Amino acid sequence: MQQKLKKFARFSWRLCRNLVCYFSVGRQWLYPQKKLTDDFGPSDAEYAWYVYLYHLSQLQHQGFKHTQNALEIGPGQNLGTSLLFWSDAYSQIGEVAQITLWDVFENATPSSSGYWSSLAKELIQKAPKDAPSYLIEILRLVGAEDLHPNIHYQVCDFEELQVDNLDLMYSQASLEHVDHVEKVWQLAGKMHDCWQSHRIDLADHGRRHTNYIEMLEWSEWAWRASMCFIPGHINRWRASQYVKCLQKNGFTILHQTRDERDKLPIPRSCISKPFRFFEEQDLRTTGLNLVAINHRTSEACQ
Ligand SMILES: C[S@@+](CC[C@H](N)C(=O)[O-])C[C@H]1O[C@@H](n2cnc3c(N)ncnc32)[C@H](O)[C@@H]1O
Repeated sequence: MQQKLKKFARFSWRLCRNLVCYFSVGRQWLYPQKKLTDDFGPSDAEYAWYVYLYHLSQLQHQGFKHTQNALEIGPGQNLGTSLLFWSDAYSQIGEVAQITLWDVFENATPSSSGYWSSLAKELIQKAPKDAPSYLIEILRLVGAEDLHPNIHYQVCDFEELQVDNLDLMYSQASLEHVDHVEKVWQLAGKMHDCWQSHRIDLADHGRRHTNYIEMLEWSEWAWRASMCFIPGHINRWRASQYVKCLQKNGFTILHQTRDERDKLPIPRSCISKPFRFFEEQDLRTTGLNLVAINHRTSEACQ
Protein backbone atom coordinates (compact mmCIF):
# COMPACT_ATOMS: atom_id res chain seq x y z
CA MET A 1 0.00 0.00 0.00
CA GLN A 2 2.77 2.37 1.04
CA GLN A 3 4.62 1.52 -2.21
CA LYS A 4 1.51 2.31 -4.24
CA LEU A 5 1.08 5.66 -2.49
CA LYS A 6 4.71 6.53 -3.13
CA LYS A 7 4.37 5.64 -6.79
CA PHE A 8 1.22 7.73 -7.09
CA ALA A 9 2.95 10.70 -5.46
CA ARG A 10 5.89 10.32 -7.85
CA PHE A 11 3.56 10.14 -10.82
CA SER A 12 1.60 13.24 -9.71
CA TRP A 13 4.76 15.27 -9.25
CA ARG A 14 6.11 14.20 -12.63
CA LEU A 15 2.81 14.86 -14.36
CA CYS A 16 2.81 18.44 -13.01
CA ARG A 17 6.42 18.92 -14.07
CA ASN A 18 5.62 17.59 -17.52
CA LEU A 19 2.67 19.94 -17.88
CA VAL A 20 4.81 22.91 -16.86
CA CYS A 21 7.30 21.86 -19.56
CA TYR A 22 4.58 21.86 -22.21
CA PHE A 23 4.93 25.66 -22.18
CA SER A 24 8.24 27.01 -23.37
CA VAL A 25 8.36 29.53 -20.47
CA GLY A 26 7.87 26.70 -17.99
CA ARG A 27 10.44 24.54 -19.74
CA GLN A 28 13.04 27.29 -19.65
CA TRP A 29 12.25 27.97 -16.03
CA LEU A 30 12.70 24.34 -14.94
CA TYR A 31 15.46 23.49 -17.43
CA PRO A 32 17.43 26.60 -18.39
CA GLN A 33 19.39 25.90 -21.61
CA LYS A 34 22.79 26.38 -19.94
CA LYS A 35 22.03 23.87 -17.21
CA LEU A 36 20.55 21.43 -19.69
CA THR A 37 23.62 21.68 -21.89
CA ASP A 38 25.99 21.16 -18.96
CA ASP A 39 23.97 18.14 -17.85
CA PHE A 40 24.22 16.67 -21.34
CA GLY A 41 27.95 16.15 -20.99
CA PRO A 42 31.41 17.65 -21.20
CA SER A 43 33.00 19.84 -23.85
CA ASP A 44 36.64 19.16 -23.04
CA ALA A 45 39.24 18.03 -25.54
CA GLU A 46 40.23 14.93 -23.58
CA TYR A 47 36.69 13.63 -23.78
CA ALA A 48 36.57 14.40 -27.50
CA TRP A 49 39.69 12.30 -28.08
CA TYR A 50 38.32 9.51 -25.94
CA VAL A 51 35.04 9.33 -27.88
CA TYR A 52 36.81 9.60 -31.25
CA LEU A 53 39.38 6.90 -30.50
CA TYR A 54 36.72 4.64 -29.07
CA HIS A 55 34.46 4.79 -32.15
CA LEU A 56 37.39 4.70 -34.55
CA SER A 57 38.83 1.55 -33.01
CA GLN A 58 35.41 -0.15 -32.94
CA LEU A 59 34.95 0.67 -36.61
CA GLN A 60 38.48 -0.14 -37.74
CA HIS A 61 38.27 -3.57 -36.18
CA GLN A 62 35.47 -4.25 -38.65
CA GLY A 63 37.30 -2.88 -41.69
CA PHE A 64 36.30 0.80 -41.72
CA LYS A 65 38.88 3.07 -43.38
CA HIS A 66 37.60 6.65 -43.20
CA THR A 67 34.41 8.58 -43.76
CA GLN A 68 33.52 10.94 -46.57
CA ASN A 69 30.11 12.02 -45.33
CA ALA A 70 29.21 11.31 -41.71
CA LEU A 71 26.38 12.19 -39.35
CA GLU A 72 26.87 12.52 -35.61
CA ILE A 73 23.68 12.29 -33.59
CA GLY A 74 23.45 14.46 -30.47
CA PRO A 75 26.99 15.79 -30.03
CA GLY A 76 25.95 17.89 -27.01
CA GLN A 77 28.89 20.19 -26.24
CA ASN A 78 31.41 17.73 -27.60
CA LEU A 79 32.15 18.96 -31.11
CA GLY A 80 35.80 17.93 -30.84
CA THR A 81 35.05 14.34 -31.84
CA SER A 82 33.56 15.50 -35.14
CA LEU A 83 36.59 17.71 -35.78
CA LEU A 84 38.83 14.68 -35.32
CA PHE A 85 36.74 12.52 -37.66
CA TRP A 86 36.72 15.32 -40.21
CA SER A 87 40.49 15.94 -39.91
CA ASP A 88 41.17 12.28 -40.51
CA ALA A 89 38.84 12.23 -43.54
CA TYR A 90 40.31 15.47 -44.89
CA SER A 91 43.82 14.08 -44.65
CA GLN A 92 42.75 11.17 -46.84
CA ILE A 93 40.25 12.59 -49.34
CA GLY A 94 40.55 16.38 -49.08
CA GLU A 95 37.76 18.83 -49.54
CA VAL A 96 34.96 16.35 -50.22
CA ALA A 97 35.06 15.25 -46.57
CA GLN A 98 32.09 16.51 -44.62
CA ILE A 99 30.33 15.91 -41.33
CA THR A 100 26.85 16.86 -40.22
CA LEU A 101 26.04 17.27 -36.55
CA TRP A 102 22.40 16.91 -35.65
CA ASP A 103 20.99 18.04 -32.34
CA VAL A 104 17.60 19.16 -31.07
CA PHE A 105 19.08 21.60 -28.54
CA GLU A 106 21.62 24.27 -29.34
CA ASN A 107 24.30 22.99 -26.99
CA ALA A 108 27.18 24.60 -28.89
CA THR A 109 27.80 27.66 -31.07
CA PRO A 110 30.19 26.53 -33.80
CA SER A 111 29.28 29.51 -35.97
CA SER A 112 30.85 31.90 -33.45
CA SER A 113 34.12 33.48 -34.46
CA GLY A 114 37.24 31.38 -33.78
CA TYR A 115 35.23 28.40 -32.52
CA TRP A 116 36.91 25.70 -34.59
CA SER A 117 40.34 27.22 -34.37
CA SER A 118 40.35 27.29 -30.56
CA LEU A 119 38.87 23.79 -30.43
CA ALA A 120 41.64 22.55 -32.75
CA LYS A 121 44.28 24.11 -30.50
CA GLU A 122 42.77 22.44 -27.42
CA LEU A 123 42.73 19.10 -29.23
CA ILE A 124 46.42 19.47 -30.10
CA GLN A 125 47.22 20.25 -26.48
CA LYS A 126 45.41 17.19 -25.22
CA ALA A 127 46.43 14.84 -28.03
CA PRO A 128 47.58 11.41 -26.90
CA LYS A 129 51.31 10.78 -27.40
CA ASP A 130 50.70 8.33 -30.22
CA ALA A 131 48.22 10.53 -32.13
CA PRO A 132 49.02 10.34 -35.87
CA SER A 133 51.13 13.30 -37.04
CA TYR A 134 48.96 13.86 -40.14
CA LEU A 135 45.96 14.43 -37.86
CA ILE A 136 47.89 16.96 -35.77
CA GLU A 137 49.00 18.68 -38.98
CA ILE A 138 45.39 19.18 -40.10
CA LEU A 139 44.43 20.41 -36.62
CA ARG A 140 47.32 22.92 -36.79
CA LEU A 141 45.94 24.29 -40.08
CA VAL A 142 42.47 24.60 -38.52
CA GLY A 143 44.02 26.21 -35.43
CA ALA A 144 45.74 28.78 -37.65
CA GLU A 145 42.47 29.34 -39.54
CA ASP A 146 44.16 28.27 -42.78
CA LEU A 147 41.59 25.51 -43.08
CA HIS A 148 37.89 25.61 -42.23
CA PRO A 149 36.29 22.31 -41.35
CA ASN A 150 33.38 21.24 -43.50
CA ILE A 151 31.21 20.47 -40.47
CA HIS A 152 27.57 21.52 -40.49
CA TYR A 153 25.70 21.90 -37.24
CA GLN A 154 21.93 21.46 -37.60
CA VAL A 155 19.60 22.05 -34.68
CA CYS A 156 16.19 20.85 -35.79
CA ASP A 157 13.67 18.04 -35.60
CA PHE A 158 14.77 14.88 -37.34
CA GLU A 159 12.24 15.41 -40.13
CA GLU A 160 13.95 18.67 -41.09
CA LEU A 161 17.47 17.28 -41.13
CA GLN A 162 19.23 17.73 -44.48
CA VAL A 163 21.61 14.88 -45.30
CA ASP A 164 22.32 12.55 -48.18
CA ASN A 165 24.74 9.78 -49.13
CA LEU A 166 25.93 9.21 -45.59
CA ASP A 167 28.59 6.55 -45.17
CA LEU A 168 28.80 6.75 -41.37
CA MET A 169 26.46 7.52 -38.48
CA TYR A 170 27.82 7.57 -34.97
CA SER A 171 26.61 8.66 -31.56
CA GLN A 172 27.69 8.68 -27.95
CA ALA A 173 25.04 8.49 -25.22
CA SER A 174 22.45 10.13 -27.48
CA LEU A 175 20.27 7.55 -29.20
CA GLU A 176 18.44 6.78 -25.97
CA HIS A 177 17.12 10.37 -26.13
CA VAL A 178 15.82 10.13 -29.68
CA ASP A 179 12.05 9.69 -29.71
CA HIS A 180 11.69 7.81 -32.98
CA VAL A 181 14.91 5.88 -33.45
CA GLU A 182 13.26 3.85 -36.19
CA LYS A 183 13.14 6.99 -38.35
CA VAL A 184 16.90 7.42 -37.99
CA TRP A 185 17.63 3.92 -39.20
CA GLN A 186 14.96 3.99 -41.88
CA LEU A 187 16.89 6.92 -43.30
CA ALA A 188 20.21 5.11 -42.85
CA GLY A 189 18.76 2.06 -44.53
CA LYS A 190 18.31 4.10 -47.72
CA MET A 191 22.06 4.77 -47.96
CA HIS A 192 24.69 2.45 -49.41
CA ASP A 193 27.30 0.89 -47.14
CA CYS A 194 26.45 3.14 -44.24
CA TRP A 195 28.52 2.30 -41.16
CA GLN A 196 26.93 2.62 -37.73
CA SER A 197 28.86 3.04 -34.49
CA HIS A 198 26.84 3.78 -31.38
CA ARG A 199 27.24 3.81 -27.65
CA ILE A 200 23.79 3.74 -26.06
CA ASP A 201 23.21 4.41 -22.38
CA LEU A 202 20.23 2.28 -21.36
CA ALA A 203 20.09 2.94 -17.63
CA ASP A 204 17.36 5.13 -16.18
CA HIS A 205 19.08 8.53 -16.20
CA GLY A 206 17.77 9.54 -12.78
CA ARG A 207 18.37 6.29 -10.93
CA ARG A 208 21.22 4.56 -12.69
CA HIS A 209 22.92 3.54 -9.43
CA THR A 210 19.87 2.11 -7.71
CA ASN A 211 16.79 1.19 -9.69
CA TYR A 212 18.32 1.36 -13.17
CA ILE A 213 15.05 0.24 -14.83
CA GLU A 214 12.75 2.56 -12.91
CA MET A 215 11.42 3.94 -16.20
CA LEU A 216 10.08 0.49 -17.08
CA GLU A 217 7.74 0.51 -14.09
CA TRP A 218 5.35 2.84 -15.92
CA SER A 219 2.76 1.90 -18.46
CA GLU A 220 3.17 3.59 -21.84
CA TRP A 221 0.47 6.20 -21.17
CA ALA A 222 1.80 6.99 -17.66
CA TRP A 223 5.33 7.33 -19.01
CA ARG A 224 4.20 9.65 -21.80
CA ALA A 225 1.97 11.68 -19.52
CA SER A 226 4.79 12.23 -17.07
CA MET A 227 7.77 12.60 -19.42
CA CYS A 228 7.01 13.51 -23.02
CA PHE A 229 7.67 17.27 -22.67
CA ILE A 230 10.69 16.97 -20.38
CA PRO A 231 13.75 18.08 -22.33
CA GLY A 232 16.26 15.26 -22.66
CA HIS A 233 13.88 12.48 -21.58
CA ILE A 234 14.81 9.00 -22.75
CA ASN A 235 12.88 6.59 -24.99
CA ARG A 236 12.99 3.34 -22.88
CA TRP A 237 14.08 1.09 -25.77
CA ARG A 238 15.98 -1.99 -24.65
CA ALA A 239 19.15 -3.29 -26.33
CA SER A 240 17.26 -5.98 -28.26
CA GLN A 241 14.93 -3.35 -29.74
CA TYR A 242 17.84 -1.30 -31.12
CA VAL A 243 19.40 -4.42 -32.61
CA LYS A 244 16.13 -5.62 -34.17
CA CYS A 245 15.39 -2.19 -35.61
CA LEU A 246 18.80 -2.04 -37.29
CA GLN A 247 18.36 -5.52 -38.71
CA LYS A 248 14.88 -4.72 -39.95
CA ASN A 249 16.36 -1.83 -41.91
CA GLY A 250 18.90 -4.03 -43.64
CA PHE A 251 21.89 -3.72 -41.30
CA THR A 252 24.20 -6.51 -40.29
CA ILE A 253 25.48 -6.23 -36.74
CA LEU A 254 29.23 -6.68 -37.01
CA HIS A 255 30.03 -6.27 -33.36
CA GLN A 256 28.20 -5.64 -30.12
CA THR A 257 29.10 -5.52 -26.47
CA ARG A 258 26.82 -4.92 -23.53
CA ASP A 259 27.22 -3.60 -20.00
CA GLU A 260 25.17 -5.83 -17.75
CA ARG A 261 24.17 -5.59 -14.11
CA ASP A 262 24.22 -8.71 -11.93
CA LYS A 263 20.57 -8.78 -11.07
CA LEU A 264 17.29 -7.05 -11.60
CA PRO A 265 16.72 -4.23 -9.08
CA ILE A 266 12.96 -4.86 -8.83
CA PRO A 267 10.72 -7.92 -9.12
CA ARG A 268 9.31 -8.58 -12.60
CA SER A 269 5.82 -7.94 -11.25
CA CYS A 270 6.78 -4.24 -10.88
CA ILE A 271 7.76 -3.99 -14.54
CA SER A 272 5.05 -2.87 -16.91
CA LYS A 273 3.86 -4.89 -19.85
CA PRO A 274 5.32 -5.54 -22.40
CA PHE A 275 8.78 -5.03 -20.80
CA ARG A 276 7.88 -7.57 -18.10
CA PHE A 277 8.27 -10.39 -20.60
CA PHE A 278 11.62 -9.29 -22.02
CA GLU A 279 14.53 -11.66 -21.53
CA GLU A 280 16.30 -11.10 -18.25
CA GLN A 281 19.64 -10.33 -19.90
CA ASP A 282 17.97 -7.60 -21.92
CA LEU A 283 16.49 -6.04 -18.79
CA ARG A 284 19.85 -6.21 -17.00
CA THR A 285 21.63 -4.47 -19.91
CA THR A 286 22.53 -0.86 -19.10
CA GLY A 287 24.83 -0.09 -22.02
CA LEU A 288 25.04 -1.19 -25.63
CA ASN A 289 27.96 -0.62 -28.00
CA LEU A 290 27.42 -1.64 -31.54
CA VAL A 291 28.92 -1.50 -34.99
CA ALA A 292 26.82 -2.34 -38.03
CA ILE A 293 26.74 -1.83 -41.77
CA ASN A 294 24.20 -2.25 -44.55
CA HIS A 295 25.07 -3.45 -48.02
CA ARG A 296 22.20 -2.32 -50.18
CA THR A 297 21.76 -4.32 -53.33
CA SER A 298 20.46 -2.48 -56.37
CA GLU A 299 17.26 -4.50 -56.02
CA ALA A 300 16.72 -3.26 -52.47
CA CYS A 301 17.26 0.32 -53.63
CA GLN A 302 14.25 0.33 -55.93
C1 LIG B 1 23.80 12.86 -22.82
S1 LIG B 1 23.95 13.98 -24.17
C2 LIG B 1 25.32 13.28 -25.03
C3 LIG B 1 26.13 14.36 -25.69
C4 LIG B 1 27.45 13.92 -26.31
N1 LIG B 1 27.26 12.92 -27.32
C5 LIG B 1 28.40 13.46 -25.26
O1 LIG B 1 28.81 12.31 -25.30
O2 LIG B 1 28.74 14.27 -24.40
C6 LIG B 1 22.52 13.65 -25.13
C7 LIG B 1 22.42 14.36 -26.47
O3 LIG B 1 21.15 14.00 -27.06
C8 LIG B 1 20.49 15.18 -27.47
N2 LIG B 1 19.04 14.99 -27.34
C9 LIG B 1 18.24 15.21 -26.30
N3 LIG B 1 16.96 14.95 -26.59
C10 LIG B 1 16.94 14.57 -27.87
C11 LIG B 1 15.89 14.17 -28.77
N4 LIG B 1 14.61 14.12 -28.38
N5 LIG B 1 16.23 13.85 -30.02
C12 LIG B 1 17.51 13.89 -30.42
N6 LIG B 1 18.56 14.23 -29.61
C13 LIG B 1 18.26 14.59 -28.35
C14 LIG B 1 20.99 16.26 -26.55
O4 LIG B 1 20.80 17.55 -27.07
C15 LIG B 1 22.46 15.86 -26.42
O5 LIG B 1 23.18 16.36 -27.50
